[in-house]
Amino acid sequence: MLSVQENMMVEFTPALLEQFGDVVARYPAERQKSALLPILHLVQAEYGWLSVDAMDKVAYYLRIKPIEVYEVASFYTMFFLQPKGKYVLEICRTGPCCLVGAERIMQHIETRLGVSEGEVTADGLFSWRGVECVAACGFGPVLQIGPAYTFYENLTEASVDQLIDDLKEKAKNQ
Ligand code: FES
Repeated sequence: MLSVQENMMVEFTPALLEQFGDVVARYPAERQKSALLPILHLVQAEYGWLSVDAMDKVAYYLRIKPIEVYEVASFYTMFFLQPKGKYVLEICRTGPCCLVGAERIMQHIETRLGVSEGEVTADGLFSWRGVECVAACGFGPVLQIGPAYTFYENLTEASVDQLIDDLKEKAKNQ
């Protein structure tokens, strides 16, 4: 969902614009719209998420309408339209995982992190959300963490706690 409250003004850097140019050059002349997906990935990698202002500026750059950017960005779940944590825990909430405790795991994550689905912890490290089947149905409950989409399977409350502790430690050392 697009939210004007959660806007963030951006100014694309020359380095980022150069990367845009490289992407657009892969496509035939006047087909610059084809570069939309890779450019949105570049913008998200730079700013962490896609604000309305960032999407408007992508539209301006590609000479397309803002709605054409919004409809693509809001269709694909790999794009975040609101601020997110450094680590986003994406828990499968589809039937087979729910049968083996996915809802219990989500409840535990919410309590442990102290934030509701889609919110970001005060330290900026974590957010979480339920997602549809991630194709590890035999190993549920399961969660994934992007951008490498590392899987954590057969989750228990204890393994989730350990994962969160490990990620906090990792962030400290980065
Ligand atoms: Fe959870 Fe498929 S139902 S991974």
